[in-house]
Amino acid sequence: MKTIDDLLAAGQVAGKRVFVRADLNVPLAGETITDDGRIRAAVPTVKRLAEAGAKVIVASHLGRPKGAPDPQFSLAPVAARLGELLGTDVAFAADTVGDSARATVEGLADGQVALLENLRFNAGETAKDDAERGAFADRLAELADAYVGDGFGAVHRKHASVYDLPARLPHAAGGLIATEVGVLKKLTEDVARPYVVVLGGSKVSDKLGVIDHLLEKADRILVGGGMLFTFLKAQGHEVGKSLLQEDQLAAVTEYLERAEARGVEFVLPVDVVGDIEFPDLKTKAPANPVVAPVTAIPADVLGLDIGPESRKLFAAKIADAATVFWNGPMGVFEHPDFADGTRAVAQALIDSPAFTVVGGGDSAAAVRILGFDENAFGHISTGGGASLEYLEGKTLPGLAALED
Ligand code: 3PG
Repeated sequence: MKTIDDLLAAGQVAGKRVFVRADLNVPLAGETITDDGRIRAAVPTVKRLAEAGAKVIVASHLGRPKGAPDPQFSLAPVAARLGELLGTDVAFAADTVGDSARATVEGLADGQVALLENLRFNAGETAKDDAERGAFADRLAELADAYVGDGFGAVHRKHASVYDLPARLPHAAGGLIATEVGVLKKLTEDVARPYVVVLGGSKVSDKLGVIDHLLEKADRILVGGGMLFTFLKAQGHEVGKSLLQEDQLAAVTEYLERAEARGVEFVLPVDVVGDIEFPDLKTKAPANPVVAPVTAIPADVLGLDIGPESRKLFAAKIADAATVFWNGPMGVFEHPDFADGTRAVAQALIDSPAFTVVGGGDSAAAVRILGFDENAFGHISTGGGASLEYLEGKTLPGLAALED
């Protein structure tokens, strides 16, 4: 994989228009950015290129608009924050390949930075059809002389700006992608053992591929979050009104059996914190949390976090690890009454001498929102789906496109 050094050596940076595909898909409440981690992670590469005299054109997606402009997914608030972090003005183009983008890029002096509007406002970005994606990539290519892929969080997407555009321009991987890939390699090649994986998040169906793969790699798998209830049900427990994916029960049962056969320790919570209704995440009004052992979850309760005994159990199962990968919150951490499980896992990672990796949008945001020091972890990945698919051993289009 070529790096920015290669582009510099080839004279493709100074005085050139360099397109940086970043992942600035940050959580927003209205126009307020609630976690700017991905913007901060994009800064070093943008800065380096600007300091080397490039006209830097940054582009990203935000959310999942339907291929047309939609103000709630505008990158305008991100342009402002990027400018603050860079300590310089960031010109904002109101479209992706239209008049505004062209004029904005033409207006850049060497060392200046522009951000294009959300790439997914154009249907060509995410099109399944190669020709449609290619046509959009052609138009993006007209804006630039070189391409730097640095949006690690989006490398699992076969999208125009991620996959098709690098084929049309001299290209290289940015510093963030190089760091992320370096860390994930450590988890796939010669991993230090015991290797403990903590999985959370709401849907077990999102994690099937990675569980399947990790059953061959990990020594211990801890399961929390909404997905735990499908596991509990598979073990014969009643889960009340908790999130349950009935259609995944067979797969989950097979995983539990395979884990046992392979000697992989599957650790499920022994108690949960729940409520009779989902908490109000806007007002964060106090809920009515109840603690129940997993053997006796009341029929009218939905589980929203792992319980106090499970927090101790999970901490003990993390304490002797040499490597820990954590993806997915343990509960509805956005509400203070259901954040303790996620907080306990974060603390256990910090307390453990292991090499710890926090993978994924939600768990990375949780760590920051709950006030933990990011530097206390080995690595906090900017990629959720991307890091999971990497660990699954899949070929990631955005990395493959940077290979040659
Ligand atoms: C993410 O948040 O995981 C990345 O930005 C990719 O977003 P997507 O799942 O909408 O493609």
